Amino acid sequence: MRIGSVATDNFTILAPLAGITNLPMRLLAKRAGCGLVCSEMISSNALVYGSEKTVQLLDSSPEEKPLSVQIFGSDPQILADAARIVQDSGADIVDINFGCSVKKILKSNSGSALMKDLPLASRILDSVRKSVTIPLTIKIRSGWEPSGKQALEIARMAEDCGVDAITVHPRTATQGFRGDADWSIIAALKKRLTIPVIGNGDVTVPEDALRMMNATGCDGVMVGRAAIGNPMIFSRILAVSHGRPAAPAADSQRIDMMMDYLQASVGYLGEKTACRMMRSRLCWFVKGMRNAGQFRSAIRFIASEAEAMELIRQYADSIAPQSTTHG
Ligand SMILES: Cc1cc2nc3c(=O)[nH]c(=O)nc-3n(C[C@H](O)[C@H](O)[C@H](O)COP(=O)(O)O)c2cc1C
Repeated sequence: MRIGSVATDNFTILAPLAGITNLPMRLLAKRAGCGLVCSEMISSNALVYGSEKTVQLLDSSPEEKPLSVQIFGSDPQILADAARIVQDSGADIVDINFGCSVKKILKSNSGSALMKDLPLASRILDSVRKSVTIPLTIKIRSGWEPSGKQALEIARMAEDCGVDAITVHPRTATQGFRGDADWSIIAALKKRLTIPVIGNGDVTVPEDALRMMNATGCDGVMVGRAAIGNPMIFSRILAVSHGRPAAPAADSQRIDMMMDYLQASVGYLGEKTACRMMRSRLCWFVKGMRNAGQFRSAIRFIASEAEAMELIRQYADSIAPQSTTHG
């Protein structure tokens, strides 16, 4: 897939997930074969005002490239300045959030609220387009009513403004995550645009990604919730796309991923913060595995990397196939 000047290895994309798709999580997805990883949404105001915590969200590593960084906001000049900061940080793509429907974001006229205000959306796209040379993309929802009419209007306008690709999560702004994503809206956008269209919503198993591509003709498939604690979904999607069986991740692969995630998180966040976070996050990886409950209770109080590593090792031993003795 090509987004402006950026070529990705394949059509799979890790969705922006607030509080989740930090550098360690993106590295796991990348190592599992994901074609393009996205940062979580970053406040344009906080970036421009230099908030240290926010600026840290731009941290990247050559291994995860290409990287798309998503910003949100409603002020055309601040978004343009933030996009420039994103470009200067070395990101490959800047994405603007037109889809978030969380109350706090809507109140500030950002996210999905922009789909209601075409003149403001147009000023934002013009001003950001002029401020950066890297590819510019947007991520939208269906809009405020289910027909997808607003998605089409915004998408056409974005294409005219020089946007290089559009991701659509076809649920309305008021729908949250209820009901099914309406993939026919992805197909409608693909039919009417010349820039790449990335489909998103309800890819839960590898075969869904192919179903989405076949049903909509989309150029890329973005996966969000199904990748949480399960980055191997990307290698499995690629396997089915090449006609190979999508074998589930082996227990040993999941254990290796947990160790990688722990180490990368300690390196990125420091031991204390990372360990606090790992108490819940490592549990994502054992979902559906044997003795998962036992592991969950054991990991609740970890205070050091060494302790967490030891608990992961003990858990791995507890689920390893028993060696048989002969003779
Ligand atoms: C915990 C969580 C955080 C999210 N954060 C963002 C975000 O920062 N930016 C964004 O555009 N979408 C965000 N989304 C929406 C996802 O990117 C994606 O559009 C949605 O989950 C549908 O895809 P899925 O069915 O593959 O999960 C978030 C979703 C979840 C569940």
